[in-house]
Amino acid sequence: MAYGLQIRDEESGYNKNLFCIPKHYEEDLERVFIPHGLILDRTERLARDIMQDMGSHHIVALCVLKGGYKFFADLLDHIKALNQNGDKSVPITVDFVRIKSYCNDSPTEKISIVGEELSTLNGKDIIETGRTMKALLSKLKDNEPKMVKVVSLLVKRTHQSPSYRPDYIGFEIPDKFVVGYALDYNEYFRDLNHICILKEKAKEKYRI
Ligand code: IMP
Ligand code: MG
Repeated sequence: MAYGLQIRDEESGYNKNLFCIPKHYEEDLERVFIPHGLILDRTERLARDIMQDMGSHHIVALCVLKGGYKFFADLLDHIKALNQNGDKSVPITVDFVRIKSYCNDSPTEKISIVGEELSTLNGKDIIETGRTMKALLSKLKDNEPKMVKVVSLLVKRTHQSPSYRPDYIGFEIPDKFVVGYALDYNEYFRDLNHICILKEKAKEKYRI
């Protein structure tokens, strides 16, 4: 079973004034929760673990948009670095699928999936209940891939029993709503490097 870096429930993160934050978001953020550098360091190790397990299989890397795009790009950069510096390498092709399952800070009833070709390795932003991932996996099965592995940067410890666990996990985080590093609140905050916690008044400000 995969384990991610555990971030405890009591963890409050870091003073945002000690980091570089875009001016337009300064008043919206409470704390920096996972600094960008730590995300990259953990991603580098995930890349190594994945490549060790993949053997010589050709990889189709499938990015789950939009929230997974930063993680996907950084993970692939690390995998490419291993491919060009190690003694073995595997070919990688990329694909993209777009899923929408959230509005404000809550799940929507309907999960919409947009995307044509669906195949092997999955780069995902965050798994809360696993509802979104299960919907995607059942669609992936129609294409009869040889093997499907799911990599999620974050897994949230929710009070609901987790119905799905990915094959690779970056961090296991408390049940808090987080933004940044491509994770959004109504499309805002994707353009923020660190994973951060929002102020309550920011949720009001950007609510739709
Ligand atoms: P699940 O279907 O309950 O696993 O929720 C996963 C999806 O909900 C993610 O792909 C995100 O789009 C969204 N989501 C869940 N928690 C957060 C969060 O803390 N910040 C931003 N988006 C989130
Ligand atoms: Mg979202």
